[in-house]
Amino acid sequence: TPPSLVDRHGRAIRYLRISVTDRCDLRCRYCMAEHMQFLPRDAVLRLEELAQIAERFVARGVTKIRLTGGEPLVRRNMMTLVEQLGRQIGQGLAELTLTTNATRLADHAEGLFAAGVRRVNVSLDSRDPAMFRHITRHGDVAQVLAGIEAARIAGLRVKINMVALRGLNEDEIPSMLAWVVANGMDLSLIETMPMGRIDEDRADRFLPLTEVMARLKPRFALAPDSHDSGGPARYWRIDESGSRLGLISPLTNNFCATCNRVRLSTDGRLHMCLGHEDSVDLKKAIREGGIHAVDEAIDRALAAKPERHDFRIEAGAAPAVARHMSVTGG
Ligand code: GTP
Ligand code: 5AD
Ligand code: SF4
Repeated sequence: TPPSLVDRHGRAIRYLRISVTDRCDLRCRYCMAEHMQFLPRDAVLRLEELAQIAERFVARGVTKIRLTGGEPLVRRNMMTLVEQLGRQIGQGLAELTLTTNATRLADHAEGLFAAGVRRVNVSLDSRDPAMFRHITRHGDVAQVLAGIEAARIAGLRVKINMVALRGLNEDEIPSMLAWVVANGMDLSLIETMPMGRIDEDRADRFLPLTEVMARLKPRFALAPDSHDSGGPARYWRIDESGSRLGLISPLTNNFCATCNRVRLSTDGRLHMCLGHEDSVDLKKAIREGGIHAVDEAIDRALAAKPERHDFRIEAGAAPAVARHMSVTGG
C-alpha cells in the first residue's frame, strides 16, 4: 500500500474536496462575476480520471470526499461518478458527500441516498425570494426549498450554508437559525473569502462572524460543541434541539492548524490550500504517466502544503487569489 498523507506540519490529510465543474446555474454575487469565463471542456478532468484519482486518495488514507463546484449537479453524468465513488464507502472511505445549491436536488436526492450519500450541504443565503434572487442573480428560492425538502424525504441530513453578507442577509441570520432548528437541520455561517474577481468589492459586504455571534448569543441558548465533521467549522449546540451552528471564520478565527484537506480543481490541479496559488497538475500526471505519476505529484504537493492561508478583506484590494472558489471547490 502507498504511504498515507502527512504534511511537514504533521497534519494528516483525510479529506478530499473535488470541484467537478466550475459551472453553475446561479451567479452568487460574492462568488462569481455576472459574466464568467468558464473552462473549455477539454481542460476538465474526465469523470473516469476523476474517479481514478479519488480512489488513489482513498488508498492513501482519505476517508471523506466532498463533491462540489460550481454546482456539482449541473455536470452531465454526475450520478455515475457518485455511484462509482459510493462503492468505496466501507472500503476506506467513510463519507461521500456533496455541497450543492439544490436547484436540481429534487431530481437527484433519491439517487444520492441510494449511492450511499447520507448528508448534503446546501447553500442558501436567504429564504426571502427577492433577496435570494438578488444575491444569486438568477435563483428561484422555491426551487431550492423544494430540493431541500426532497433531500430530507429521501433520508439525507441537510446542513445549510449561509455566507454572512453585510446589508444583505445580515438581519435574516436569526430567523434562518430558528428555521433550521425548527426543521431539524444544521446551519453553517461562512465569512466571505477574497477569491477571484467579482463585480463588487467584497469589503462592502464582509460581515465578521464575531459580530454575528454577539448578536445571536442573547437570543439562542448556544453551548460550545466538540463535534468535529472533519471540516473547518467550529460548532455550537442549540439547546433542546439536535441542531448545530457551525462557524467558518477564515478571516476572524483561523483554522489552518488542524487542516486535514486538499482540493482537486475542475481542471485537475491539486491545491493544498484554498488561499495559495500553487498547485500540481494531476491531469497531466494521469494522462502522461498513469497512477504512479499521480502518486509522485501528490507527494510533491504534500511536501509544499502551506502552513496557513492569509486571507484579508480590505477595501479596494485585489482578491488574495485570482481563481474563483468554483474552480477550486467551494
Ligand atoms: P462538513 O463536512 O459539513 O463539515 O463540510 P465543510 O464545512 O467541510 O464543507 P462545505 O462545502 O459546506 O464548506 C463550507 C465552507 O467552508 C466553504 O465556503 C468552503 O470553501 C469553506 N472551507 C472548507 N475548507 C476550507 C479551508 O481549508 N480553508 C478555507 N479558507 N475555507 C474552507
Ligand atoms: N467566500 C465564501 N464562501 C464562498 N462560497 C462560494 N464563494 C465563496 C467566497 N468567495 C460558498 C458557497 C457555498 C460554499 C461551498 O462556498 O456559498 O455554500
Ligand atoms: Fe453557484 Fe455556489 Fe457560486 Fe452560488 S456560491 S454561484 S451556487 S457555485
